[in-house]
Amino acid sequence: MTTVDLPLLPLGRGSDLSSERGVECPGDLPPASDPDLVARALAAKEKLGDKVFVLGHHYQRDEVIRFADVTGDSFKLARDAAARPDAEYIVFCGVHFMAESADILTSPEQQVILPDLAAGCSMADMARLPQVEACWDALAEAGVQDQVVPVTYMNSSADIKAFCGRNGGVVCTSSNAQTVLEWAVDQKPEAKILFLPDQHLGRNTAVLKLGYSLDDCVVWDPRLPDGGLTAEQLRDARMILWKGHCSVHGRFSPDTIDELRAEIPGIQILVHPECQHEVVLKADLVGSTEFIIKTIEEAPAGAAFAVGTELNLVKRLADRHPDKRIVFLDRTVCYCSTMNRIDLPHFVWALESLVDGVVVNRIEVDPDTEHYAKVALQRMLELPGKTHDD
Ligand code: 13P
Ligand code: SF4
Repeated sequence: MTTVDLPLLPLGRGSDLSSERGVECPGDLPPASDPDLVARALAAKEKLGDKVFVLGHHYQRDEVIRFADVTGDSFKLARDAAARPDAEYIVFCGVHFMAESADILTSPEQQVILPDLAAGCSMADMARLPQVEACWDALAEAGVQDQVVPVTYMNSSADIKAFCGRNGGVVCTSSNAQTVLEWAVDQKPEAKILFLPDQHLGRNTAVLKLGYSLDDCVVWDPRLPDGGLTAEQLRDARMILWKGHCSVHGRFSPDTIDELRAEIPGIQILVHPECQHEVVLKADLVGSTEFIIKTIEEAPAGAAFAVGTELNLVKRLADRHPDKRIVFLDRTVCYCSTMNRIDLPHFVWALESLVDGVVVNRIEVDPDTEHYAKVALQRMLELPGKTHDD
């Protein structure tokens, strides 16, 4: 696993911050203008046959998602990663933390490939292991560490997942955060949760699904001494939220919701739980990307939705449902820039390299991290009852 110890890696782990592209592609990266890219991708995929299994997150570009054998949100993709144990290569069209999870959940013989190593996630980069360990020590000093169950959102690096696995904690996704948090509070008497790294998913789930008050939640800011919190605040809190957020979902604002409601009568506001609490409070429906897709699919013709999630998915939904009115919940165009790094040239380059017997951009988690991260992931995957909103 390649890691670089920097507070924020906007271009993803393993990137070279001195260059715009972030990483080098050994061999030839086809130009985006090559008119044969689609044919080349089809031909390479056909040559590889069952040896390759392509997973695609819903936020991927259309030009790439069309080649995915399976599409999904991060929960579904984590479950599906192991679905083809015979496939030698798993090409992950998504971001770095998803490819790491796929590597953890597949057999050691299977090789996971991320077509562009610069496809990171700024939210995942907001929680680094030494920062989380410092927070853990502060919880011990405040005398509450024994009560704390660490829960990390899937959108975190493998070493943060491993930290949770080592310390009795678990992973959650936007599909199952409620179930996972309910499990976590049952683990210890007077349990407190340390929720990493997305403060919004943590707050939205605690307040809207578990019935916590906003005062039950405190925010640990890793850039401030002692997280900016007193020992008393840590002792009083039920939910310690890490100060991280998604730069895409953080953009949606309550003002735009008011404007759209005035403009389009009957419009339903459908948002992802990574949005700010004020936005989620004003929304009609909240859920993961799978939930958003299903809600729109099942709505009657003529229904209108303003959707607060990544733009590639919103555009795809609008194209797929011309009988419904689907608008983006932001006035400006905003894609997830790191998801968009996986483009057709990188996809073709990764596949054609495999055809030539060369494995490029392999994502490999070291064995110790893998062991404990798997503990936390398996705890999530084995939770009984409802673990998925869709
Ligand atoms: P889900 O796939 O869990 O809906 O998460 C959205 C996301 O931001 C992935 O990066
Ligand atoms: Fe990360 Fe947000 Fe992009 Fe998802 S949409 S990969 S959380 S920056």
